[in-house]
Amino acid sequence: MSAPSPAPSPRGRFITFEGIDGAGKSTQHARLIDYLRDKGVTVVASREPGGTPLGEKLRTLLLGDSMHLETEALLMFAARREHIAQVIEPALMRGDWVVCDRFTDASVAYQGGGRGLPLTKLQQLATWVQGDLRPDLTLVFDAPVELAQARVRSGTTNPDRFEQEQNEFFQRVRQAYLAIAANEPLRVKVINATQSPEKIATEVKALVDKVYLIH
Ligand code: TMP
Repeated sequence: MSAPSPAPSPRGRFITFEGIDGAGKSTQHARLIDYLRDKGVTVVASREPGGTPLGEKLRTLLLGDSMHLETEALLMFAARREHIAQVIEPALMRGDWVVCDRFTDASVAYQGGGRGLPLTKLQQLATWVQGDLRPDLTLVFDAPVELAQARVRSGTTNPDRFEQEQNEFFQRVRQAYLAIAANEPLRVKVINATQSPEKIATEVKALVDKVYLIH
């Protein structure tokens, strides 16, 4: 008689960080990963566009080269397809957690809200590229555009193609994020990113602890 196969490990958790450029999510992303690792969780830290060697090459193109807005959306989703296949799905299947700096909500907010690409096209791409895969929890770091832009300006002397966009573009992106959160209040939580980094980190941990305990 063959030995019983080991029980499959429970699926890991998928958490995504979102917000306009300069909202401060990357700092909090790093802090949460440290927190989870301290708790003994095996975490894959990743980002989009990027997360794989091919995805990082696409990121360089996306952040540097001007292109048609549909090309931009297609390349975002091409990088995402690779990321899901190579990194996200295998990690979740192993039972690891994936904490990703941006995912599909960024396409809806930036290419949809910011650039004006119809939502139906983005939804078609999302269905094709990710099937049923959805984050278990999405944190939207929300701050007024003026504050976020000032943070970007003080943090870089060489802004990328997105960071160079005007105030009105980021107003639309911000509103798109808030609309996503209003439509999906269970998955998407808005965090006031004007608070101190300490206070924000405490809020992030409390939200993530809920995901950790519930599932
Ligand atoms: P980052 O600066 O947060 O790493 O993100 C890079 C830029 O890419 C940011 O300005 C937002 C943009 N972006 C999109 O426009 N659509 C997307 O789907 C993703 C993932 C990012």
